[in-house]
Amino acid sequence: MKILIVGSGGREHAIGKKLRKDYPPISLYFYPGNGGTKLIGENIDHIHSTLELGFFARKNRIDLTIVGSEIFLLDGIVDIFQNFGLKILGPHYLASKLEGDRIFAKSFMKKYGIRTPEYKIFSCYKTAIDFIENKKNISLAIKTNGLASGKGVLLSHNKNEAKKALKTIMIEKKFGESGDKVIIEDFLKGKEVSIISIFNGKYIIPFLSAKDYKKIGENEIGINTGGMGSIVPNPYMNHSIWKDFEKNILNPTLVGLLSEKLTFFGFIYFGLIISSGKIYLLEYNTRIGDPEAQSLFPLMESNFLHMIHSSFLQQKISIIWKNNKCSCCVVVSSKGYPEKYEIGKTIKGFNYLIEPFYIAGADKKEKNWVTSSGRVLNIVGIGNSIEEARYKAYEKVKKIHFDNIYYRNDIGL
Ligand code: GLY
Repeated sequence: MKILIVGSGGREHAIGKKLRKDYPPISLYFYPGNGGTKLIGENIDHIHSTLELGFFARKNRIDLTIVGSEIFLLDGIVDIFQNFGLKILGPHYLASKLEGDRIFAKSFMKKYGIRTPEYKIFSCYKTAIDFIENKKNISLAIKTNGLASGKGVLLSHNKNEAKKALKTIMIEKKFGESGDKVIIEDFLKGKEVSIISIFNGKYIIPFLSAKDYKKIGENEIGINTGGMGSIVPNPYMNHSIWKDFEKNILNPTLVGLLSEKLTFFGFIYFGLIISSGKIYLLEYNTRIGDPEAQSLFPLMESNFLHMIHSSFLQQKISIIWKNNKCSCCVVVSSKGYPEKYEIGKTIKGFNYLIEPFYIAGADKKEKNWVTSSGRVLNIVGIGNSIEEARYKAYEKVKKIHFDNIYYRNDIGL
């Protein structure tokens, strides 16, 4: 069995490690992969387009492709691979707009009664300014229509901030043409939750709830990153909130996907917020989250490959998780990330690191591991409580040293 995993971060390493554990004889390929993935498979580095990757997969008789990173989804990788008769997990181009086109996603939510914060769409700067002038609630999230590499969301808490954000997006074009249209959304204060699920074109089967720590600074201060840590389960996701999620978000999403013929085999990520006792959907992603994957896979008892197989048969599966266990993943990064940072730093203590851990941006150079990216290692602790998982994760993190190391100390607090 040959599996190709598309992406280059800790998430892709986590998917690969889980598959290797569940089914040791598997042959794994990663595109482009990283220094960790090449220890468990083969990194493909001589390919320059999604189409070329399709040719590679066909020629090498890849049995299954799993897409980690959204860039490839928006590039139509699923349509290309399916046209080649290849099995692939991910949304076709139209369904990938649930993640890549915020207006498309919001309109879908509205049409199917999926609970989401109030919003308005603007393509004219002047009309958007007038709207802000007359708005009573001035805590707003101003979002570009396109993804803008995860950066196109500006928060404002007064009219001046809101106008400045609009100018940045619509006049200065900081995020290019992804800011030709904007969504002005009510900003809800609350607790964020990520729920990842597997979708088989008939059922959506959710994983355990997770929490992602997006900001660079402790106490959620500073700029957004790709994620500085995660915990599973999310402590705010109690029974009644879960029921609220099913009724107002999960079930109507399924109705919408089936009605609009947006069915596919893959993953749906619900980016949620609990505010004043109710759960709201902020966004969909159409892939497994990073670094949520790194906290989820160590707790998954079910065989992931069997799960995928049942999914292609459109079976209603139940996922088995380690009984009552919690996990905490700390992202160890290079100081300066997500802006300017240096790489090539020798990592000390790596050889003493015990599982579970994942490599996000490090490479083995002769005998030493050296940093090769902003996010370097994803170190995970497992325990009977979040506190214990957190303690175990940080015990391992403390053994790692390199010049300009940076990590948040409050993951799981
Ligand atoms: N953790 C959010 C993401 O994967 O984009």
